[in-house]
Amino acid sequence: MPLLTILKYPDPRLQRVASPVQAVDARVRTLVADMLQTMYEAQGIGLAATQVDVHERVIVIDVSEDRSQPLVLINPELVWASPERQRSDEGCLSVPGIYDGVERATAVRVLALNEHGQSREEAAEGLLAVCIQHEMDHLLGKVFVEYLSPLKRNRIKTKMLKRREDAAPARGAA
Ligand code: NI
Repeated sequence: MPLLTILKYPDPRLQRVASPVQAVDARVRTLVADMLQTMYEAQGIGLAATQVDVHERVIVIDVSEDRSQPLVLINPELVWASPERQRSDEGCLSVPGIYDGVERATAVRVLALNEHGQSREEAAEGLLAVCIQHEMDHLLGKVFVEYLSPLKRNRIKTKMLKRREDAAPARGAA
C-alpha cells in the first residue's frame, strides 16, 4: 500500500489550486520523501502534492527506467515551452487504468526549487517534458482527462464512480 492516499478522479479536491511553498523546511522534506515513496510503490512516474490532498506547489517525478533519478520540483514555474507540440498517451495515478492522448509542448524549461531550497532551471523534452506539464496541471487543479472530449470524460467519470462503489466494503462484511 502506498504511504499516502492518492485521491481518485473525480474527487473535487483534485480541482483545488495549490499555494506556493513558503519555506523549504523539514516538513516539506518529509512531504517530498513520503510522496516519492508513494509514487514508487504505486509504480507511477510522477506525483503532485494535490493528488495526496496537500495543496502546495510540490511535484516529484522519476521517468528513469531503473527508478533511480528522482526529480523534485518545488514552486515550479514554466520559463519556456516549445511551439512544437505532440500528442502522446498519458495516464494518471488518480485515474488508474485510463490512458488517452493529450497534446503538449514537446520541450519545456522550468525553474524550481529542490528539496534543499536551491533554485535551478530544468530543461526537459520527451516523456519528462510531458510529465512535468501533466504534474504542473495538477497544481492548478487540472486532471488530464479534462483535455478529452466531454463524451470521453463522462464515460471515464462513470467508470471511476462505478469502480468506487464496487470497491466499497459490502455491508456487514467482517
Ligand atoms: Ni496525474
